[in-house]
Order: sequence, then C-alpha cells, then structure tokens
Amino acid sequence: MQKIFPPTLHDRGVIARWRAWLPDITDATPVVSLNEGSTPLIHSPRLSALVGRDVRVFLKYEGLNPTGSFKDRGMTVAVSKALEAGARSILCASTGNTSAAAAAYAARAGLACIVLLPAGKIALGKLVQAIAYGAKIVTIDGNFDDALQLVRELADDPAIAIVNSINPHRLEGQKTASFEIIAELGDAPDAHFLPVGNAGNISAYHRGYREWLTLGRATRAPRMIGWQAAGAAPIFHGQPVAKPETVASAIRIGNPASWSLASAAVAESGGAVDIVSDDEILAAQSWLARHEGIFVEPASAASVAGLLKCVRQGGECHAPASGTIVCTVTGHGLKDTVTVLDRAAALAPPVPAKREAILAALDEN
Ligand code: F0G
Repeated sequence: MQKIFPPTLHDRGVIARWRAWLPDITDATPVVSLNEGSTPLIHSPRLSALVGRDVRVFLKYEGLNPTGSFKDRGMTVAVSKALEAGARSILCASTGNTSAAAAAYAARAGLACIVLLPAGKIALGKLVQAIAYGAKIVTIDGNFDDALQLVRELADDPAIAIVNSINPHRLEGQKTASFEIIAELGDAPDAHFLPVGNAGNISAYHRGYREWLTLGRATRAPRMIGWQAAGAAPIFHGQPVAKPETVASAIRIGNPASWSLASAAVAESGGAVDIVSDDEILAAQSWLARHEGIFVEPASAASVAGLLKCVRQGGECHAPASGTIVCTVTGHGLKDTVTVLDRAAALAPPVPAKREAILAALDEN
C-alpha cells in the first residue's frame, strides 16, 4: 500500500519515540496514536525562587496531551495492544480523564468504548469528552472504587479489554514521561512531586526513572513524593477510605489499584506520600494560573500544593535544599471550569459599548 504521509509526520507519539524501551510493542502491534507525549517541561522561576536559591523547579505540563491529560501516554499502548489482541471493545472505570482518553483512542482504533462513571462526580469537561468521542457511558450510584470493582467483575469477556491502569500496558506508556524529563534535563531530577489517586502514575514514573538509571542513561533516580487530597488519602493513612471526598474529583479515590506498586516506588526511592487540603489545592491551582500562566485542573495542582506546603513548613518537608525538582501537572484546567467559576466573583453587568463606559467600569474594579 502506498504511504500517504512521509514517515516523519507519522512517527510521533509515545510509541514512535520510545519504542526501544517499550517491550510490549512488537512489529505485530498496530499503533494507535494521537501524537501524545513530548509535553513541555517548563521552568518555573517563581517556584524555584520560593523553594530556595539552589533549586530549579520544572513543571511537566501533561495537560497538553491530545485529550488534555497524562492518560494518553498509557492509552496509546493499551489500545494498540487491545487491537492487536483482537478486542472489539475497551472498558474502564474513571474519575473522568481515563474515560476521555479511552474514548478518544477507541474512536481512533475503531473500537467501541464503555465507561463506568460515578454519577455526579465527574468534571463536566471530561464527561463532554466521553460524549463527544462517542463512548457508551454508564453512570453508577457509587464512587470510583465501586466502579473499578464492577469493571473487574466484567473482565471475563475476551472481546472486551480493560484499560484501567490494572492493565499493565498503561503504566508502560506512562513511564515515558520520565524518559522525556531525563532527555531534556540531561539527568533525572532530585525529587519528583505528583498527585496520587489510583497510584498508577507515581509507579510508572518511578519505573521509567529506574530503567534509565539501570541503563546508565541517568546518574540517579529521584525521590518520588506523592500528594493525596486530605479527604481521600488512603495511602497516607495506611487504610482504605470508604467515602473519599475532595474538590479534586480526579483523585477522589479511597482504595487505589496500584497501592502496593506506589508504596514500593516510594520506599525504593526514599520518597513519601503526604497530604494537601482542598484549600491548599485550590490555592495552588490559582497561584499557578496567575503566576505562571499555567491553568491546570484541581487534582493536577496537588503536586504544586505539596511544594508550596514544603516552602511553608521549611526543613521538615520533602523538597531538597538544592538540585532539581519536577512537579507533574497532570490535566488541563479547561476540563473542570465549574470549580473556578464557583469561586469567582460574578461578572458585572454589561456596560454600553463606549470608551467612557469601559474606563468607568475599570475604575470601579
Ligand atoms: N491527576 C489527574 C488529572 C488524574 O485524572 C488522575 C487520575 C491523577 C492525577 C492520579 O493519577 O490515578 O495514576 O494516581 N485519574 C484517574 C481517572 C483515576 O479515572 O481519570 P493516578
């Protein structure tokens, strides 16, 4: 068959870029990609200055993936493998972003997509994505943990592939964010901060860092510092939370699937799992948007909320006094606009379309 696109245009995306380190992918794997990955690693001079003179802080802005979150990295691998295995549908439970990514990659692959969502607990933008990409949406009277349990119970049909992070291909794709960071910085950072929900991502990053340390492509692996919302902090408390509550709906999870992997990542890296309050999360979200021009959804801001907490607490916290810190900001702010609008002052009524009226309105502000 004649190639329509030159290979350089076609060969972008996580699998094309990192194939050599993705053993799941073989010549027989049909690659389903939306050119995900290669997201910006943005230096934050203001955060760096806050943390310390000898510290450089970078933000890995995963909201710039094709469906607006880091989930695309794992989904390209999981959906490619599902297609290779002959699945006809993919299935997931989600707090919103996994379902958005699953729906998009299923559409791309020509597979059906079924998503189980906790009713009323999904940010509107994510729900809109699942609808737009044509997923079959089932909302349940229950939380994310209940939805994931139901997914496990539906797992016996070989024509349906589960694409939650209990699918090992997901974490393989997600580990590529660590490769990008090492490639860009020239080495691994000293500490890596990220939000923790179902606990797959912290495990995936750690795996990526360890793999390249072992291969000599980095001289260290960072301390992995995970941040849970105070009302949804099972790993921090060491026990499942029956009714997790937080404004950061993406990480409203009481019994994470990758709990033991995450605990191992934290232990092996000398890291920690700690908590931030909803107020701290929302303050960090607002701070990032207003001081760095980076708008992320509340869950994503947990990593930066954690760093700002470290700044306030000084020596006792998890930020190194010198070196490099990377905070992953996991999802785009436009996915969850209601959280921002609910806290914003109402817009003043319209003024006449006249120069004087505008100047008067600005004076009042
Ligand atoms: N940040 C965002 C924006 C997320 O959507 C999630 C997880 C996390 C952080 C936490 O990552 O689960 O690997 O620890 N969202 C899942 C979902 C649960 O269904 O979209 P994790």
